Amino acid sequence: MRKKIVAGNWKMNLDIHQGETLVQDLLKKDIVINDAIEVILFPSFIHLSTLIDLLQESEIKIGAQNNHPMESGAFTGEVSATMLASLNVNFCLVGHSERRTYNHENHEVLSKKLDALYHAGIRPIYCLGEHLEHRENGSHFELIKQQLSVLFEKSNAQVENTVVAYEPVWAIGTGKTASSAQAQEMHAYIRSLLQDKFGNEIAQNTSLLYGGSCNPKNAKELFSQKDVDGGLIGGASLNAEDFAYIISAID
Ligand code: PGA
Repeated sequence: MRKKIVAGNWKMNLDIHQGETLVQDLLKKDIVINDAIEVILFPSFIHLSTLIDLLQESEIKIGAQNNHPMESGAFTGEVSATMLASLNVNFCLVGHSERRTYNHENHEVLSKKLDALYHAGIRPIYCLGEHLEHRENGSHFELIKQQLSVLFEKSNAQVENTVVAYEPVWAIGTGKTASSAQAQEMHAYIRSLLQDKFGNEIAQNTSLLYGGSCNPKNAKELFSQKDVDGGLIGGASLNAEDFAYIISAID
């Protein structure tokens, strides 16, 4: 059975003190996390070690926002999947639209990053999503298929360890959420592509998250869709109250 997941992507926000305070506030919220649910925080690298210690007694897991494709070497300023694994980081984001845009990460680089994570035993959350122009000119399904095809080169065992997050770029940080019908339609399409390539069992076991202006008001409706298995939350994950409320919207 696939898990429901609520993940908080802090992006480049919060200094070390603010990050600690946010997690301490979250821990006071009495969040119920059973076996069917994962809650994961994706802070920046500077927080990883501190928050892993802070969350030792908690069910909340920690992920990284990025990894370098290589294992080690002369890559100043970079962090490898092996380094993340040595901290017991459980998850890592790959293919977020901000990195595709600002860091020009393409199919080839993303494929190598995924391989590095699989090799290190870290589960990727592979993000994809169309720009507004694709949705307006009707090419959004084709674009999503192209982006998902990075996974088509991977083995069944690797795909089984991958979470997919559909994040329409026009909905990220804009306050403009995809309707629950739009989210369901695209999630069902992604699941059908996984089924064609990897079979029914893997398709049914893969958690598909929605991201893009998900907030306490719309989370329940989005999460109630058949193929929406949770959310990747940006802005609203920076507020303990809102994030706890979004977690409670999953059942
Ligand atoms: P948002 O970001 O919730 O602030 O729209 C989502 C994301 O980029 O993962």
